[in-house]
Amino acid sequence: MSADLGFVHVFHPAVTPDAPILLLLHGTGGNEHNLVPLKDALMPGAGVLSPRGQVLERGMPRFFRRLAEGVFDTEDLKQRTHELAGFVTRASAHYGFDEGRVVAAGFSNGANIAASLLLLEPETLAGAILFRAMVPLVPDPMPSIPSTPVFVSNGRTDPLVAPAETERLTELLRTAGADVTLAWQQAGHELTAGDVAQARDWLTRARIRAPRTP
Ligand code: MLT
Repeated sequence: MSADLGFVHVFHPAVTPDAPILLLLHGTGGNEHNLVPLKDALMPGAGVLSPRGQVLERGMPRFFRRLAEGVFDTEDLKQRTHELAGFVTRASAHYGFDEGRVVAAGFSNGANIAASLLLLEPETLAGAILFRAMVPLVPDPMPSIPSTPVFVSNGRTDPLVAPAETERLTELLRTAGADVTLAWQQAGHELTAGDVAQARDWLTRARIRAPRTP
């Protein structure tokens, strides 16, 4: 745990100021350390901001409450999405990184709150890598995501995320304006080497938007 910014978290600065800061968002039962090794696999020069989800489900950290598998507590999700966006803003001021360079990389529950950030707080993320994400919620009105590059990587045989759900998510994000790349893995819900290799290639090519002007 570094500075108290509202979330227990890990922060590592980027090698250069123009490199992305990866907002690493773990899955159910994970913590702020789990995905840190992913940074070197995705982009060694990137920075890391990795918070721990604040909901405990039978002792397992998550980023928002659910009522059952795949059935989310939407009010809780909304509130926690705004809290996570506030954390990113505070972390940017505290550590001195450019908030316009934050790219989420989330798995499962972490990917779901990353998708929720895109939909409810579109200014928070310059891009997002979503591993095994579902539709977190359907906002009304729909936001306008300014061509934010998003990489969705899901498994064809995932027992938790049906292919139709993945299509619904990509359609929702595209309708909001995101520039979505969808990658299918011959896999279930678990993260595979193929996911990481394709996400790395995508991140190298993605047009992460220029730093914000104050
Ligand atoms: C999980 O187990 O984390 C779910 O599949 C995704 C979620 O609940 O957000």
